[in-house]
Amino acid sequence: MSETFAVTRALFDEVMVPNYAPANLIPVRGQGSRVWDQQDKEYVDFAGGIAVNCLGHCHPALVNALTTQANKLWHLSNVMTNEPALRLAKKLVDSTFAEKVYFANSGAEANEGALKLARRWALDNFGEQKQDIISFGKSFHGRTFFTVTVGGQAAYSDGFGPKPGAVYHAEYNNLDSLKALISDNTCAVILEPIQGEGGIIPATEEFIKGVRELCDQHKALLIFDEVQTGVGRTGHLYAYMQYGVTPDILTSAKSLGGGFPIGAMLTTTAIAAHLKVGTHGSTYGGNPLACAVAEAALDTINTPKVLADVLAKEKLFRQELSRINAKYDVFTEVRGQGMLLGAALNEKFKGRSRDFLLASADQGLFVLMAGYDVVRFAPSLVIPDADIIEGMARFERAVAKVVQG
Ligand SMILES: Cc1ncc(COP(=O)(O)O)c(C=O)c1O
Repeated sequence: MSETFAVTRALFDEVMVPNYAPANLIPVRGQGSRVWDQQDKEYVDFAGGIAVNCLGHCHPALVNALTTQANKLWHLSNVMTNEPALRLAKKLVDSTFAEKVYFANSGAEANEGALKLARRWALDNFGEQKQDIISFGKSFHGRTFFTVTVGGQAAYSDGFGPKPGAVYHAEYNNLDSLKALISDNTCAVILEPIQGEGGIIPATEEFIKGVRELCDQHKALLIFDEVQTGVGRTGHLYAYMQYGVTPDILTSAKSLGGGFPIGAMLTTTAIAAHLKVGTHGSTYGGNPLACAVAEAALDTINTPKVLADVLAKEKLFRQELSRINAKYDVFTEVRGQGMLLGAALNEKFKGRSRDFLLASADQGLFVLMAGYDVVRFAPSLVIPDADIIEGMARFERAVAKVVQG
């Protein structure tokens, strides 16, 4: 490289829109569950992007898929279809409830497609009055104006002018609050099986089953946002599979591409039929590079062994976290499933998840927050046990620093 300027964190403040506040360190390479910064300091990665790098960094199967496809064909537009998109769609259909797939570039766009489809399905089948969308408090569905309005945190959607209408919010894990809002005018209910950004809050099985029943009673579509929980993260290919409850539409992103941007909306043939030619689309949706990488990620993860190992690694994480907690008393509980776990801070440390994140980075470890009261862990699904142990030794040192003040 022959830059005449220094590529430092200070350059971010100079040239980037200030909507993020990135860490001071700048990672430059990664391998498996380890990452190195510009100063060659090494980190264990318990963050995985934000629940994205499902196979760690530079996994050989993904590197191979990407480089092979990069030497063949990069982009076509949806004026033509392509082989990687067709192969990926077929594999998603074969391994889920879905019969049809729509590809997007992100979780928000997958959800945008799902919500637009639900509205169009309701309009075609029942008429204009059936347009209510019900979501839940603390939910997160992305940052487009429709998805952020549907999300359960007004703070993220306020201040941008008039919002899309007919969007309502019930309380998560509270069927009575949904009963009070749902009616024959409801076209869809959207929920995360485990609320991720909202604090790693799992839906109870009773709640998920109750929501399905209420949707059926009122002829409303049930949309599962599995952007964070999908593609093996809970030890199931998709979280819905463990409840015996099938959604009408499911959205997937994050782990789907293992770090390459892709989103997908999955549904049935009958519902999909309402997105007729010209009703919706995306220049990059179904891009061959993205689909080739996602196909390799899906092939690698969707095996009984890898999925079972995710649950074994959850056990190890929980053991280590309770060992640390027994010594330092910082958490009330560890919530979540598989490689999507949240340690909820107790009264003494409430509001301080960022302190744990910063102290962890000092010790050579990436962790995440899920709000200010929860430290979140979303590592690679195939993180070696030795990296879990090493990362937890670093986390223990970080916890000790925060506790000592
Ligand atoms: C459940 C859920 N849905 C949607 C999104 C939005 O995904 P993206 O940032 O890829 O648009 C996220 C991102 O955190 C998410 O956790």
